Amino acid sequence: MKLGSRRTFLGATMVAVVCLVGAVRVAGLRAEALAQAGQAAPAPAGDAPIMSEQAFQNIQTLKGIPVDTFLDAMGMFANAMGNDCTYCHAPQSALDRVGFAVQTARMTRTRQMIAMMNVINKNFFKGEPRVTCFTCHGGNQSPRSDPNLALQYATPVEDPNVRDFTADPKLVARDILNKYITAVGGADRIARLTSYTGKGTYEGFDTMKKVPVEIYAKAPNQYTTVVHMDEGNSVRTFDGRTGWMAGPDTPVPRVVLTSGNLDRARLEALVAFPTGIPQAYAEWRVGRAVLNDEEDFVLQASESGQPVLNLYFAPSGLLVRLVRWTPTPVGMVPTQIDYSDFRDVAGVKIPFHRRVSQTYMRMDVELSDIQPNVAINAALFAMPAPGAKK
Ligand code: HEC
Ligand code: HEC
Repeated sequence: MKLGSRRTFLGATMVAVVCLVGAVRVAGLRAEALAQAGQAAPAPAGDAPIMSEQAFQNIQTLKGIPVDTFLDAMGMFANAMGNDCTYCHAPQSALDRVGFAVQTARMTRTRQMIAMMNVINKNFFKGEPRVTCFTCHGGNQSPRSDPNLALQYATPVEDPNVRDFTADPKLVARDILNKYITAVGGADRIARLTSYTGKGTYEGFDTMKKVPVEIYAKAPNQYTTVVHMDEGNSVRTFDGRTGWMAGPDTPVPRVVLTSGNLDRARLEALVAFPTGIPQAYAEWRVGRAVLNDEEDFVLQASESGQPVLNLYFAPSGLLVRLVRWTPTPVGMVPTQIDYSDFRDVAGVKIPFHRRVSQTYMRMDVELSDIQPNVAINAALFAMPAPGAKK
């Protein structure tokens, strides 16, 4: 039974991929339509995010949120319903991407559900986002109302990504972070690694196959990934302050990262030269979780009293997972990054494999070659040019 439902969910996720590529086209077309109509296409200053209603056509409820947060909200919907984007969107959105703006009965129902959820949270949870789509739906289009005896007597499945894990007051964050720096190679060796470039492959829902990728990293906190997609390059950059995504796969030609997505880009850049990780947040809550059949330490950081980041350290001391949540109008939505295949580069252990899992897409970057301490053109860390319109 468990296997069956997992398979269904994976199948659903694959379709979500197609949906996202669809979203991309929609926005591209939208920008084109605006350009044709002689109107200014959304082109704010390089670090000003484009809002949902500027980018899309049929926005009535989720107004005034940046495009990256909007996609997280869509991902929450697909995840909560245990289905893909076409569960709510017109079937043609899987192929003809303009379909996303087409009004459907389930979109109307969803707007009502958002209103209901807001009333519940406002009236009974002091306006805190305690009840979300997932609270009721939990991966089902039809929330179950009657008790489940099979669940009651089954072995509980533990999710290492929970935010409300039990803290162990005997564990000291500083010790775990020091062990991490030592496991990576020690502060001295890390300090001598000032930059690196890498080559390998990228595979994501937006490519459905392996394509060439390059990464560029510069201490202390700049990181760029260039994916060579069939339709053109997709560039993801963090310049030490601002983060962007620009390519044929992005929902608008250039997405400016905001809130949790921006902080996640910052953390990814810090992981490349990890001496910055212990200082990434001032306070950590510490506990344990089982991951990859091992017991890991979990360090958690909060923002305004709300847990937003979990870091997972394996028994080896290395950082193997990072989960960063982004607040959206429909709840906190996670992005999970798994690091593996650690290899020695100039005495520093660097993860050659990075898997990013989001509620609306998943991607793998597998590097085969890393060159340490090479000069990198500063332009590679600057704001990328808008992505090719598809
Ligand atoms: C549970 C229903 C539901 C699911 C599942 C869903 N959406 Fe949506 N989507 C909506 C609703 C409702 C709106 C309109 C939001 C509003 O009125 O503010 C919308 C709007 C959109 C728009 C804007 C279209 C336009 O031009 O106005 C895009 C793009 C989009 N969704 C993409 C996606 C993607 C990609 C996925 C899958 C990851 C997805 N959606 C999954 C309900 C859903
Ligand atoms: C308090 C519980 C609760 C919350 C919160 C909730 N839902 Fe629902 N939802 C329901 C119930 C109950 C139904 C009716 C299911 C049925 O008829 O089988 C439903 C129905 C739906 C349907 C119609 C399904 C169909 O059969 O066509 C959609 C779409 C939907 N919900 C989306 C959402 C989304 C998206 C959110 C988050 C914004 C959400 N719901 C939040 C309880 C909830």
